[in-house]
Amino acid sequence: MTVAPAPAVQTVISEAWGQPNSHLISEYKKRGGYKALEKALAMEPTAITDEIKRSNLRGRGGAGFPTGLKWSFVPKDNPKPKYLAVNGDESEPGTFKDRYILEYDPHLMLEGIAIACKAIGAHKAYVYLRGEFKFQAERVDAAIKEAYEAGVFGESVLGSGFKLDCYLVRGAGAYICGEETGLIESIEGKKGWPAVVGLFGCPTVVNNVETLASVPPIMNKGAAWFAGLGTDKSGGTRLVCLSGTVNRPGVYEVSMDTTIDQLIHDPKYGQGMPAGRKVKAVIPGGSSAPVLTADETDVALEFEALKMKQTMAGSGGVVVMDDTTCMVRALWRVTRFYAEESCGQCTPCREGMPWMTRLLRKIEEGLGEPEDLEILMNVAASIAPFPPIGLGNTICALGDAGALPVQSFVMKFKHEFEQHIAEKRCPHGDHPWGHFGDWA
Ligand SMILES: Cc1cc2nc3c(=O)[nH]c(=O)nc-3n(C[C@H](O)[C@H](O)[C@H](O)COP(=O)(O)O)c2cc1C
Repeated sequence: MTVAPAPAVQTVISEAWGQPNSHLISEYKKRGGYKALEKALAMEPTAITDEIKRSNLRGRGGAGFPTGLKWSFVPKDNPKPKYLAVNGDESEPGTFKDRYILEYDPHLMLEGIAIACKAIGAHKAYVYLRGEFKFQAERVDAAIKEAYEAGVFGESVLGSGFKLDCYLVRGAGAYICGEETGLIESIEGKKGWPAVVGLFGCPTVVNNVETLASVPPIMNKGAAWFAGLGTDKSGGTRLVCLSGTVNRPGVYEVSMDTTIDQLIHDPKYGQGMPAGRKVKAVIPGGSSAPVLTADETDVALEFEALKMKQTMAGSGGVVVMDDTTCMVRALWRVTRFYAEESCGQCTPCREGMPWMTRLLRKIEEGLGEPEDLEILMNVAASIAPFPPIGLGNTICALGDAGALPVQSFVMKFKHEFEQHIAEKRCPHGDHPWGHFGDWA
């Protein structure tokens, strides 16, 4: 397969990765660190927000919501305290980018936090990390201490009179706590059930780690520069996590017009498929993003382009499946994750996810009946009608996250599901890993 070379990329987020001691404040300052904060402290909060709006920065946590617009929603005349919550839960399967920022350049995120807090008028920020991120939590904890010692946090941020405290909170390893309101509940020490109020009942902005790490470069080099790196509606570069059957999986910073084909095949990135393997399907934005067939991968890894294909840029998790992959087994595995991670609050999700998992196991094990596919699609539609994306019947989007893969896998690879049912076996052979337990 011949694929045009991937466009050149100017690294914005991953610049320091791999450099010695890149996580220390001393090194960060040598790279010009905290100059953007100095600049922001001299600006009016609305001017900072306007600059971020003009940069076309869109959230990197999943939904791609415009960051400046989100900040502008914080009511200025509300006397209650305002909060910033930083989403470092990174639980979407196929996603492993934020951990690199936390490990290699935590001050880039901390500087972004301080600028965001100044813009929205928050005097407290909470960095929420998934429980499994022990090493990353140690790095961030040490970086927060360094930042306090350097006067970045405390009574008067860099002598400006603006007070800001920053706290690290560790989750206990639940996917639902990456959902922004579940995250807020979890920070408050409650069970991570999605709700509708801000932190401690106050106005709260939730932003992803990568989103905040993009803020200092924007303040340093200007909104126009950042917007110019991207496309009309999506500024900057983005981190993507390439996994599955490719020669060189990894986290890559790419320009927004890089296509999935280029990510897989370019020597700078995935370096192609292993000998003799062909692409069969690609999940473009974490396991909840509707799957693409091999014919649909000439698409830019950008929010609008992927939306046109009825899928999502999501959290940047690009999972490549080759021609030996059993799509029923792959979907069973994905669905089982959502069944286990459903918080149980909404009936369609709590009951629907395990039901779909059981149906998929039945089909995969050669016990499927012709009506099972229709039942599967009905259950998925009762959780979240598709298309369009984002009209779920549940409080939070975990319902969509589990239903969308089912709908897209079955719609696009229906023949495989039907073949399993007709032949009463998996045409791809036995399970190399055995079974996953009795219930699913
Ligand atoms: C079930 C579920 C899990 C999520 N997990 C994450 C996560 O691990 N990290 C993240 O940044 N956003 C996650 N999100 C998206 C957040 O709810 C929220 O949109 C995001 O943190 C906002 O930040 P951004 O605007 O900077 O993207 C999740 C959403 C859902 C519905």
